[in-house]
Amino acid sequence: MRALYCAASLLGVLAVLAWATSPAGAQDNKKVPTARQIMTKIHKGRNNPFATVKAQLRQSSPNWAKVASAAEVIEKYGSALPKARAPRGNRASFEKLAQAYASNTKTLKEAAEQKDLASAREATENIGGSCKTCHSAHRRKG
Ligand code: HEC
Repeated sequence: MRALYCAASLLGVLAVLAWATSPAGAQDNKKVPTARQIMTKIHKGRNNPFATVKAQLRQSSPNWAKVASAAEVIEKYGSALPKARAPRGNRASFEKLAQAYASNTKTLKEAAEQKDLASAREATENIGGSCKTCHSAHRRKG
């Protein structure tokens, strides 16, 4: 009888645990940003992080604090792009381009932390040169 009671309460605990953890899991899924959210965060609007980085890196002695904080946002969102879905085109093709984008954002962040102007400029050029290829294959037309 006692064993049965134990088993029943254990099941009860497990049920409560399952209930408590599943909504959190669902929320995690929602936290993965969409391609559009990522693009908006990095590239849209006045003073968007990528424009900030580009403007700073045009100078011979950029404000590295500004570069680093913008690069951090770029990398945070950029690293999620391979997990996002493109509205158009082949999945594997998008994933490959998105991996390259993510990797460039990582290089940029590291270069910003190290105040490495040459490497930061190169990563920024690589990102800037990648828009068209990806958009023409994977962005919605019109
Ligand atoms: C690896 C692919 C990829 C790369 C590289 C890329 N983009 Fe995008 N971008 C997308 C996709 C996919 C969308 C469409 C998202 C949607 O509408 O669902 C998009 C949409 C956008 C949008 C529109 C966001 C909105 O409001 O709907 C802007 C702005 C943008 N990209 C800017 C850029 C710029 C600037 C670059 C380069 C510096 C760039 N993107 C590089 C994939 C990419």
